[in-house]
Amino acid sequence: MTSQTPVFEARSVSKSFGPVVALTDVSVSLYAGEVHSIIGENGAGKSTLMNLICGKLAPTSGQLYVDGQPVRFGTPKDAQAHGIAIAPQEINLVPNLTVAENIMLGAHAGNVAAIDWRRTRSEAARHLHQVDHTIDPSMRVRELSKAQQQLVQIARAAATEARILIFDEPTATLTYREEETLLAYIETLAQEGRSAFYISHRLDEVRRLSHRITALRDGAHVGELTPEQATREAMVTLMAGRPPKAGAQPIRDITTRETVLEVQGLSRDHEFEDVSFNLRKGEILGVSGLVGSGRTEMAKCIFGATKADKGGLTFRGEKTVFKSPLEAIQAGLIYLPEERKQEGIFPLLSIAENTALPTLERFGGLLHIRNREMIAEVEDLAKRMKAKFNSLTDPITSLSGGNQQKFIIARWLMRDAHVLIMDEPTRGIDVNAKFEIQAVLRKLTEERGLSIIVISSEMEELLDVADRILVMHEGRVKGVVDRAETTQEGLLQLAMT
Ligand SMILES: Nc1ncnc2c1ncn2[C@@H]1O[C@H](COP(=O)(O)OP(=O)(O)O)[C@@H](O)[C@H]1O
Ligand SMILES: [Mg+2]
Repeated sequence: MTSQTPVFEARSVSKSFGPVVALTDVSVSLYAGEVHSIIGENGAGKSTLMNLICGKLAPTSGQLYVDGQPVRFGTPKDAQAHGIAIAPQEINLVPNLTVAENIMLGAHAGNVAAIDWRRTRSEAARHLHQVDHTIDPSMRVRELSKAQQQLVQIARAAATEARILIFDEPTATLTYREEETLLAYIETLAQEGRSAFYISHRLDEVRRLSHRITALRDGAHVGELTPEQATREAMVTLMAGRPPKAGAQPIRDITTRETVLEVQGLSRDHEFEDVSFNLRKGEILGVSGLVGSGRTEMAKCIFGATKADKGGLTFRGEKTVFKSPLEAIQAGLIYLPEERKQEGIFPLLSIAENTALPTLERFGGLLHIRNREMIAEVEDLAKRMKAKFNSLTDPITSLSGGNQQKFIIARWLMRDAHVLIMDEPTRGIDVNAKFEIQAVLRKLTEERGLSIIVISSEMEELLDVADRILVMHEGRVKGVVDRAETTQEGLLQLAMT
């Protein structure tokens, strides 16, 4: 492969945003039929590099080549003319246009007159079907979920018929089945001789897809691995500059502990059926399952956000159903939804205010807030969770995703919670921050006797942190297994049978 001319090459590119140096002297190449993954912690410079390659940004210094010829891109349209297209990390679609319109507008960037609108829908559908079978091309983009929007962006990039495709964290919001379709699609692209740069925090998919893996750290190229060299340990070590810290939490025996929550025959029409399980004091119970397996719906129902058709709970020895989330919160059962950014965070408020929000009345309420007292308490929790921040009065948006998540967890620890249900708590967070959060969860169960339900699409994560794992499939509980007694294959099999 190395004897040919690469279809794309960046030599010694650097990029600064004012005083912020995002990339220093980075060189990467891409061959025909190659999938080249770029890995790195949050802020390593991956998206910046991709934005240089697709013409969204211009390098401060360095040179790009297509087929060995030097090129300079003023706009994404220039890059597209050289056969380069990106499915960006951030959603960048027109919400009020249909899926089909968005796909075709992208494919004919800047040349709307060339679009044959009568053929638009069928052509868009063709591209869409390669990555998804459920989205209706005539729907408006604003009606779609975040994951579906991500898939539309991928179809839009594919529709340009580009030779070089860039996928910037495409799977961060996808469920297992959607992810599988996408990975298979990228494998097909490569077999057809097209090439891709691929970015993901999910190291197992990086290993599966890649012909080469390049690691960035603090804007610099810190190493290149073959798929054979790319063990989880090797990748984490390169990205972080040191060997992985926590890794899996040690196995422990929780079988003798008392039950804090028992769910009995809980059912909701079309969502889940006859769900029963128990959660012990100080336990981390993982919930695994495929798309539509009813995991989130079940959690919302336990939390009182929706009403059960049948069944009930025993919570701390009392039979009950929560009629509203407020009731659940007051009793000490908390649900942290998946869309951390949309539902969990108030971007205009400070770190301290965001953390203390549900407990503000304790500090005098919003208007007469006793700031020093509030900050002292938040600071204490932040230290215990090893959160990194500059000042607690900075806006919460100044933190990395992993640190935001720590403060959202801290928020609920300011109340006396007994049970915390977390929906995809580490989605889109880099590996080391993920291990840190897992260590925090473990510590909370040990120091506070908190019981935690972790819903996750990453089986690897559940196998790292959970004491037991409950597997759901099509709304039903297929089994609960001890972590020590199962593997990824075991979990998948349980879900499928
Ligand atoms: N438009 C911008 N203005 C200022 N700083 C930026 C901008 N884009 C990225 N950065 C900074 O550049 C660094 C690399 O960011 P990014 O490429 O997004 O990292 P990654 O994709 O690896 O998470 C970070 O420190 C980020 O804050
Ligand atoms: Mg990025």
